[in-house]
Amino acid sequence: MFKSKIKWIKKSENEALILIALDGTFGSLPGQFFMLKSGDFPVTPRPFSVYFEDEIRGETLFLLKPRGLLTEEALSWQIGHELKLKGPLGNPIPVIEGANLVAGGSGYAPLHFYGSKYGYKNFYLGTTSKEEADFLNNLPNLKITCGPLVVTERFFQDNNEGAVIACGPTPMLQHLSEQYHGGSVYVSIEERMACGTGMCEGCAVKLKSGEIKFVCKDGPLFDGKEVDWQWLT
Ligand code: FES
Repeated sequence: MFKSKIKWIKKSENEALILIALDGTFGSLPGQFFMLKSGDFPVTPRPFSVYFEDEIRGETLFLLKPRGLLTEEALSWQIGHELKLKGPLGNPIPVIEGANLVAGGSGYAPLHFYGSKYGYKNFYLGTTSKEEADFLNNLPNLKITCGPLVVTERFFQDNNEGAVIACGPTPMLQHLSEQYHGGSVYVSIEERMACGTGMCEGCAVKLKSGEIKFVCKDGPLFDGKEVDWQWLT
């Protein structure tokens, strides 16, 4: 693991989301993640997708949702707080020309990085509150709804066509994969990751072919129409 310090930190008004910028860039691409650990805090490192890597400002951004020991501790972090990192890990999301993007909650992080770097046709984001929506409304023509399942309905209402890349809660990814017939659906199943390093086997995904894959090693992106969703849920 290597170390980096927090350069700046922002919180949504309701403190449901935290955006941190770490000092330095580490050669990551959209879809990749890092294992993060806070100094000597006695918690195992956790995987976080990169929200953005800014080569001009020399910083790497992560979006955190305070809902576990590490991320709840993040509410007290200040500028200069030291984190330990390992990565970048996982496979980058391949560039798909003119793809639609659909994100639910913190699934916004990898797609924000992807959309900022490669662009998109339409970008839909499902949030859980107005405060989250305001906090994340930072890309052109973002179509924001409240509720991760509602975001798929909004996506279907617009009669979209073409490939979709989606990241968010498993029910949202399943719904899109099963109901969308306008093109390919690629799903980032990062929600299932635990150790992030191929050791715990907690991120197993079964394909309809019967093959078992691991999100941290083989993903996080899979063809949603090939995933055995009954096995996963
Ligand atoms: S997250 Fe532990 S093996 Fe993939």
